[in-house]
Amino acid sequence: MKTTFKKFTIALIALLVISAIAGCSSSEKSEAEAAKENDLQPIIVQGPMPIEAEKFASKLTDVEEEKSGAFVFYKGTVDGYPVIVTKTGKGMENTAAATAVAIEKYDPIAIINQGTSGGHDPELHVFDVVLGERTVNLGSLKTQNMNEGEGIHPKEWIPMDLMASEGSAGEDPDAEKIRYFEGDETLLEAAHAVKDTYTKGKVVDGTIGSADVWNNEVDRINWFHENFGSSVEEMEGAAGAQIAKSYDVPFLGIRVLSNNKVNNGTYNPDTAEANQEYVYEVVQEYISMKTEK
Ligand code: 5AD
Repeated sequence: MKTTFKKFTIALIALLVISAIAGCSSSEKSEAEAAKENDLQPIIVQGPMPIEAEKFASKLTDVEEEKSGAFVFYKGTVDGYPVIVTKTGKGMENTAAATAVAIEKYDPIAIINQGTSGGHDPELHVFDVVLGERTVNLGSLKTQNMNEGEGIHPKEWIPMDLMASEGSAGEDPDAEKIRYFEGDETLLEAAHAVKDTYTKGKVVDGTIGSADVWNNEVDRINWFHENFGSSVEEMEGAAGAQIAKSYDVPFLGIRVLSNNKVNNGTYNPDTAEANQEYVYEVVQEYISMKTEK
């Protein structure tokens, strides 16, 4: 009887010690660990160049760096919610791949693709921000039929929708149309709600055009503006939007003008940091919308 009591007392003390240790470590748990345990789906914020991603990454709490190919994922938290900043590298291919990798690896709740852009709209100036109500691939084009010696006629080229069918895009008349990718409504709502925090320019809804091209011909820029309704051009948004759509992940492009050829707006790299500060506000707002519900 006596030995049973002794055993019981030892077991009780051991239990108390273990639970004290456990209690102590749980209060010291990092935000990232807590978020992981709560199984929260992260928000992905993409930026192509170092100046377009590293500012946001430096604002994350408990950051851990992970690489996949050339893509860098800065995994951390904002207000205790998991956020992964991705430095994608420039262009459509990098962005498409980085988006697919992020979706497969991290199962995000939403993706924001942000960075700099060049203006197509004369009403927009350097430091203004365009929220991608729509995103469109400006490189998806079909030329007219011309024989040798008949020249090159870019103004006659027609849009081509690569998602129209599984048949040949070159032959299918249904593919002769513009494919717009819609920006996610809730992300847009969050961006609208914090518009006033941005004081360096205006924030407008618009159409983001993308291609691996930097257009400096004003007539060509005007042609895109008139025919595709593009507000700005850059080299990533539509690639991210297309992949996000194929996985059904909410997506929004947010682009600051760093230059605008149509109204002599000269390039200013400081716009990249300004945009990230605004996008940080958008992310905070989105988190509060998602966690309040
Ligand atoms: N045309 C194309 N891309 C631009 N960018 C900024 N301005 C422009 C522009 N006028 C962005 C692209 C790419 C890098 C070259 O800068 O998105 O990442």
